[in-house]
Amino acid sequence: MVKSDNITWHQSQVSKAERQALNHHKSVVLWFTGLSGSGKSTIANAVEKALFDQQVGSYVLDGDNMRFGLNKNLGFSAEDREENIRRIGEVAKLFVDAGVITLTAFISPYRADRDKVRANLEVDEFIEVFVDTPLEVCEQRDVKQLYAKARRGEITGFTGIDAPYEAPIDPEITIDKSKQPLTASVQQVLNYLAEHHYVSLVTANEN
Ligand code: ADX
Repeated sequence: MVKSDNITWHQSQVSKAERQALNHHKSVVLWFTGLSGSGKSTIANAVEKALFDQQVGSYVLDGDNMRFGLNKNLGFSAEDREENIRRIGEVAKLFVDAGVITLTAFISPYRADRDKVRANLEVDEFIEVFVDTPLEVCEQRDVKQLYAKARRGEITGFTGIDAPYEAPIDPEITIDKSKQPLTASVQQVLNYLAEHHYVSLVTANEN
């Protein structure tokens, strides 16, 4: 629902298709989802770098980073996470309109919230990337020491410990980072983009 009255949509003189043609690649959202510490940001950032090196315009929206700015008024209740994902979905949609390959790295634990982002985009503009790292692996690595804090009860509502994570049912891409090196995960994503004609990559199968 829109709260404002008396507003009118202003149509741009440059279309999304024209921006994509200028860039020589399509624009799309690669929506990384998975537990904290699963490797979403690491893979997304490595894919961004690989795309940049291929002269493909891409940008990462990262969960922790967005909470310093746009989403600094949000916490980790179910409602706040829903609003977090809604806002990022809208921002990602703008980036896609701008012709950019947009990588988002958010836990995004609720299936319904992710599905709403998908529904707000055109068909083929949302690629769900499930970073399927088991909880035990994330907890054992515990890079930010947050799982330890959650186990001690110093953080409540921590995803995977005492807050839910709803895994995707039919993601376009599933990555088990604990079973393969980072380069293989990056290649998996690049291959998907090339095979589905989002980009044409010079070395898609040679890295
Ligand atoms: S989401 O659930 O709303 O999608 P988001 O990806 O933005 O989460 O932020 C997750 C990051 O916030 C985690 O990687 C972790 O560093 C930090 N964090 C702090 N508190 C929590 C919590 N209660 N649950 C999950 N992550 C948390």
